[in-house]
Order: sequence, then structure tokens, then C-alpha cells
Amino acid sequence: MTAAPARPRLVALSSVELADHLGEALDVYVAAMGYPPGTARQRRNLWLEHTRRSGWRSVGWMDPGGHLIGIAYGYSGGPGQWWFEEVRRGLAARGAARDPAQPDWLHDYFELTELHVRPDAQGSRLGEGMLRALLAGVGHRMVLLSTPEYAPRAPGRAWRLYRRLGFEDVLRDHRFTGDSRPFAVLGRTLPLPPAPERG
Ligand SMILES: CC(C)(COP(=O)(O)OP(=O)(O)OC[C@H]1O[C@@H](n2cnc3c(N)ncnc32)[C@H](O)[C@@H]1OP(=O)(O)O)[C@@H](O)C(=O)NCCC(=O)NCCS
Repeated sequence: MTAAPARPRLVALSSVELADHLGEALDVYVAAMGYPPGTARQRRNLWLEHTRRSGWRSVGWMDPGGHLIGIAYGYSGGPGQWWFEEVRRGLAARGAARDPAQPDWLHDYFELTELHVRPDAQGSRLGEGMLRALLAGVGHRMVLLSTPEYAPRAPGRAWRLYRRLGFEDVLRDHRFTGDSRPFAVLGRTLPLPPAPERG
């Protein structure tokens, strides 16, 4: 009889644990996003700085050898943060802040900053598992994220996941300062609905 293949484990990561696995986490990020390898080096300090933000939390998938194959983290968003101010600018430019039909997206939200699965492990709902674990009991009214309108690799995978989980458009074709690519900002209220039973 052959043993069933060992499955990856979903783990909560402390700031120290993420720092210990930072090289692997950044490799997952670079491979998943299709970025040049040098991007990992540029992001190191930013990711470490994020671990010190209020409400920061992280989860990942570990393979049986103890290597990260998925990584996700986020923190409490608020005024003064670069991302908050960029999204506020985008909403103001579109007059959304004055539209009573629009939810007050920037009030009391968790920013889902990173969510990545190594390409060879994609397609098994590992991304959804991390998203659900990260957002469980997060203590905010909303979750917001930004994602490229056009992913360089694996087009549409993140979009399909976010739409499946009920994320709505907050901003489309938004240009963050210093990045020429169009991004979408998506959001939804919390908590997430329970995962459907899968047979
Ligand atoms: C987005 C991401 C985290 C989702 O994780 P995942 O474990 O692949 O998630 P899922 O298995 O639920 O797949 C999401 C969708 O992509 C599809 N998909 C994933 N891998 C696929 C593959 N190899 N071939 C075809 N479709 C694939 C799934 O079928 C699913 O679509 P569906 O909801 O219509 O069924 C992961 O695909 C990823 O890291 N993508 C690149 C990085 C990225 O875009 N991150 C988000 C930035 S904001």
C-alpha cells in the first residue's frame, strides 16, 4: 500500500516566524506575481516594517519539508498610511466620498496586503484557505485589497477567487503613485460567508 502524499499545513506566522522565513516568502511572492528576482530584495524591509503595524497578522502554507509554499498577511488600515491615502485620493477624484450609495470603504478596514501561492501549488484552494484564516475574527467591518487589473502570469486567478468570495469594486483602473499599471481596489464587509461544503 502506498502512503497518501503528505499535505501542506496551514500555519499562523508570528512576526518573528515570518522574518525567519522571509526569503522563502518573498520567493513565493516573486514567482506568483511573475516579478523579476531582484524584486524580493527591494521588498524585504517593507515587509519587515509591515510586521510592526497595528493589527498585523500572517498565515502561510508549509510543505512537509517545512518550506513555505503560500504566504498572506495584512494589517489594520488607517489615515497616514501610504495605501490609505492613495485610495482616499482615488475615491475623492471619482466623487465617491460624496455618493451616499457608496459604503464608507475607508472606515474600519483590514488591508489584505499580500496573498500568494507558489505557481506549482495553485489551483487547490490554498489561496482561499489563507484568506479565510487571515480574516477569521479580524475585528474590522471591511476588508480591502488592491490587485493588478491585468496579472502578468496566471491571468484572472486572483480575480476569480475574490469574486467568488464576494469582493466588490471600490476603484477600477486606479493608478498608485509611482506605478504605471492600472490596479483595482476591491472590498467586502466582514465576516466572510462560510465556505460551501465541497464533496
Ligand atoms: C490568487 C491566488 C493566491 C489564489 O490561490 P489558489 O490556491 O490558486 O486559489 P484557487 O485554487 O481558489 O484558484 C483561484 C482560481 O484560479 C484558478 N486556477 C488556479 N490555478 C490554476 C491553474 N493552474 N490552472 C487553471 N486555473 C487555475 C482556479 O480554478 C480558481 O478559479 P475558480 O474560482 O473559477 O475555480 C494564486 O492563484 C496566486 O498566488 N496567484 C498569483 C499571485 C496573485 O495574483 N496574488 C494576488 C495578488 S493581489
